Amino acid sequence: MDFIRELAFPLPATVIAGLMGAPEEDLEPIKTWSDRLAAYLGGAVDERDNFAEASTGIAGLVDYFRTLLRERARRPRDDLMSLMLRAEHEGDRLTHDEVVANCILLLFAGHETTTNLLGNGLFHLLGHPAQTALLRADPSLLHGAVEECLRYDGPVPATVKVATEDVPWHDRTIRRGDMVMPFMASANRDPRQFPDPDTLDVRRPAERHVAFAWGIHFCLGAWLARLEARVVLDTVFRRLPGLGLASSEPRWKPMIFLRGLEALPLSWPRP
Ligand code: HEM
Repeated sequence: MDFIRELAFPLPATVIAGLMGAPEEDLEPIKTWSDRLAAYLGGAVDERDNFAEASTGIAGLVDYFRTLLRERARRPRDDLMSLMLRAEHEGDRLTHDEVVANCILLLFAGHETTTNLLGNGLFHLLGHPAQTALLRADPSLLHGAVEECLRYDGPVPATVKVATEDVPWHDRTIRRGDMVMPFMASANRDPRQFPDPDTLDVRRPAERHVAFAWGIHFCLGAWLARLEARVVLDTVFRRLPGLGLASSEPRWKPMIFLRGLEALPLSWPRP
């Protein structure tokens, strides 16, 4: 199977679309728009000028959610879209445009990243058979294994921030207003924080990495992503005892800010 196409993409996309209230049959067009946006936001390393493509992706998502939200405003349901339309804080409510923006953010942030956690994680675990054997023998290690996959090769290697005040940084100062690109992937391999950082070790003490960033913008969906990864790894290892990589050099997407595989061919013996 191609693990990305057949499981790592459809599962998180179905979960987040379901939570939001988008019908499952709309996943295909949503994926097309979202991929166009990802190619741009992910910071493509190829030379294509994909700004126009990303704009059509955004326009598609905006139209799509505007239509769905009009329906929810008339007939609310038990989903996140209806909840956001009703949400009120100290008399303040979200405008329709704000709800549309949040829907796009949640949908986008909620599937591509988790797809890549599943793909990168399984790729590295299967590439380290001794680690996979530990997990098969003791599923209670799964929680730590997911954290280790996030640390070792997380789906969001870097982000972009603007300094709100002057920050002394070693022998220089990051000035207020400067744009900064913190590389979480690099911090996650810092030998002062993680002994032997280039070794994948599912028994490593969990949760000190910064794969979900840190502070006020810490990932809203971290616990959902962790849960999905635990369920998938547990199920895959339990149901497919002889599972292995069908190619040791799969293709990575040509992006900087999003790290994930184009495809992950897997094979296992017939029972
Ligand atoms: C393994 C999967 C995921 C990874 C590695 C990840 C990573 C991140 C990172 C690094 C940030 C901070 C970005 C920044 O400050 O520049 C972030 C923010 C965010 N994430 Fe995730 N994410 C994942 C899954 C999800 C899921 C499943 C959802 C939604 C259900 C989600 C929703 C969000 C939202 C809404 C923000 C913005 C939070 C804010 O600015 O206050 N993420 N994520």
